[in-house]
Amino acid sequence: MSGMPTALVTGPTAGLGAAFARRLAHDGYRLVLVARDAERLEALRRELPDVEVIVADLSRPEQRVPVVQRLQDPERPVDLLVNNAAVGGQGEFWSTPYAGLHDQLELNLIAVMELTHAVLPGMMQRGAGAVINVASVAGLTPGRGSTYTASKAYVVALSEGLSNSLQGTGVRVLALCPGFVHTEFHARAGIDMSWAPELLWLYPDYVVDQGLKDLQRDIVVSIPSVRYKALVTASRLVPRSLTRFVAARLGGRSRT
Ligand SMILES: NC(=O)c1ccc[n+]([C@@H]2O[C@H](COP(=O)([O-])OP(=O)(O)OC[C@H]3O[C@@H](n4cnc5c(N)ncnc54)[C@H](OP(=O)(O)O)[C@@H]3O)[C@@H](O)[C@H]2O)c1
Repeated sequence: MSGMPTALVTGPTAGLGAAFARRLAHDGYRLVLVARDAERLEALRRELPDVEVIVADLSRPEQRVPVVQRLQDPERPVDLLVNNAAVGGQGEFWSTPYAGLHDQLELNLIAVMELTHAVLPGMMQRGAGAVINVASVAGLTPGRGSTYTASKAYVVALSEGLSNSLQGTGVRVLALCPGFVHTEFHARAGIDMSWAPELLWLYPDYVVDQGLKDLQRDIVVSIPSVRYKALVTASRLVPRSLTRFVAARLGGRSRT
């Protein structure tokens, strides 16, 4: 069927990416789903209509090549790119093996830049399209994290800068900045979250819904939920040194 828009979602095999895939399928998108777990991708292909899968480890430059080619294919335009896949880490910066930090930035930062760079020219030519970059509140406020937080700050800055330069083109970029979300993220990274009260947790479907609503409203930095909006606003009203002071004492164990 022509006329259906296409969305490419990275990291759709769990958490927020799975919620994006299901919601976008429901909204009538054809899907291109990219992740490492071939079995889970296959299960999504069986569950949802009109799904194409690309098995790729996005932290590996050579495995990003088919994804870049798919995004640049003029015969099969991608209308919405959701850069969602990312990993956290646990432990201190100085004691974490360098290779792990490097792979994390390849995924959280370089892949986001490369995929966005691949998709934008076609969108500009068509005068329509959108990129949702899943960042985090961690990218908006100082915490105890190092490379994860820095990668998300990059994603926010990239999205805001692009959004400015794309004004009037019909192409939009949104940075989606959730707080804690019930997904596999923390378990995968080995981060103990037992200290975090339920009040701080969001659900993937809600975060996706808020992100898509904010994209329609031309909002550039989307912070789902009143409580996280309030936290980010409060952190901006006080001197940054005070936010750092509080984060250093309340931040729990650091995330690389
Ligand atoms: N959960 C939170 O509290 C939270 C808060 C703020 C922001 N975020 C952000 O939300 C986004 C989604 O995370 P999530 O919470 O949904 O985590 P998740 O449940 O762990 O899902 C991560 C997804 O990324 C994929 N992925 C991981 N490494 C990959 C790689 N090297 N190549 C390709 N795909 C890879 C995984 O698929 P495979 O294993 O199949 O490759 C999976 O589908 C991330 O950008 C994260 O930073 C999460």
